[in-house]
Amino acid sequence: MIRPRKPVILLASVVCILVVFGIVSSRNEKLKAEIQEEANHLLYQWETLEKTSKFVHKENYTSEISPEPCTVINPLTNQFFDLRPLGALGNDGLVQAWNARGYDYGRNFSIGICSTPLKQPQSLPESDFEGVTNKSEVGGYYTDTTGHKKSIGQISTTPKFRGRKLVLEYTDGSVCEGFKNDGSLKKSTILSFVCDREIMTKASISYVGSLHDCSYFFEVRTIHGCPTAAKKDDKAIIWIFLFICLCAVAVFFGGGFIYSLFKYNQGRQSVSHWKSNSFTAGVKNLAQVSQREEIYK
Ligand SMILES: *[C@@H]1O[C@H](CO)[C@@H](O)[C@H](O)[C@H]1NC(C)=O
Ligand SMILES: *[C@@H]1O[C@H](CO)[C@@H](O)[C@H](O)[C@H]1NC(C)=O
Ligand SMILES: *[C@@H]1O[C@H](CO)[C@@H](O)[C@H](O)[C@H]1NC(C)=O
Repeated sequence: MIRPRKPVILLASVVCILVVFGIVSSRNEKLKAEIQEEANHLLYQWETLEKTSKFVHKENYTSEISPEPCTVINPLTNQFFDLRPLGALGNDGLVQAWNARGYDYGRNFSIGICSTPLKQPQSLPESDFEGVTNKSEVGGYYTDTTGHKKSIGQISTTPKFRGRKLVLEYTDGSVCEGFKNDGSLKKSTILSFVCDREIMTKASISYVGSLHDCSYFFEVRTIHGCPTAAKKDDKAIIWIFLFICLCAVAVFFGGGFIYSLFKYNQGRQSVSHWKSNSFTAGVKNLAQVSQREEIYK
């Protein structure tokens, strides 16, 4: 066997110390999150690369990467966004309602993200959500001055990017009043998501404004408005760790092999015509090295 010499041991220990240092420093939450995000981004890019190379000959490029409900891929950066933790989809079906103060509008809003904010939509009185086709799909509402609930749009589970802006649109809510038509105009809502890593809560929804009591606009500040990993949360970091370990092992053994080969060659050169550059010589050399080591035992 080839025994590793001093410089090799030194090199290997330096690599090990670096690895340990890397792991220890990655306990720092922020750094860890950043490393993870970067790793996940790389993984994700690799996956989409695989997918696109598979489907490169298909005509409909955009439709073939169809993300799960309430998730979206930014077509500009290829980053993955997951809004599921803000609604029932990411909370085992538990209803999650977000409240937004209406200020000058005079009404407060209750909004669900990708799922309804209503706990028991079917047991509501008839007068609530009049004209709405399915009360289970109300995405947001307010209670008007007469005490009746009005839908500001039915849920959608397909967030999308408008340029750099991540938006979710709810349409087909309660009928807009005050319009001289057949009542076909329905309330609708735009939720605009803003990435906020400093926020203490999961999300904070602010009412921005409404037009003609018919369309409503909200801003949602949340960490889930920031790009994340598709799925493999912890796998990526494990793979990086394994890769570093593999490198360390390769350096350890590869270095030991080259070092002993080099040492042995130096010794041989004075007594014989040694072709140090040829590959067969290297293999022969290895055999001889191990033979010699055996003799010593
Ligand atoms: C591709 O998209 C077009 C519209 O963009 C649609 O008409 C067509 O049916 C789609 N083809 C397939 C195979 O999905
Ligand atoms: C809206 O909520 C605020 C507190 O968040 C409360 O003071 C106010 O009375 C509420 N308005 C209505 C119309 O319920
Ligand atoms: C209403 O929506 C819910 C949830 O999407 C669905 O399960 C239910 O079948 C719908 N009801 C009707 C009458 O369409």
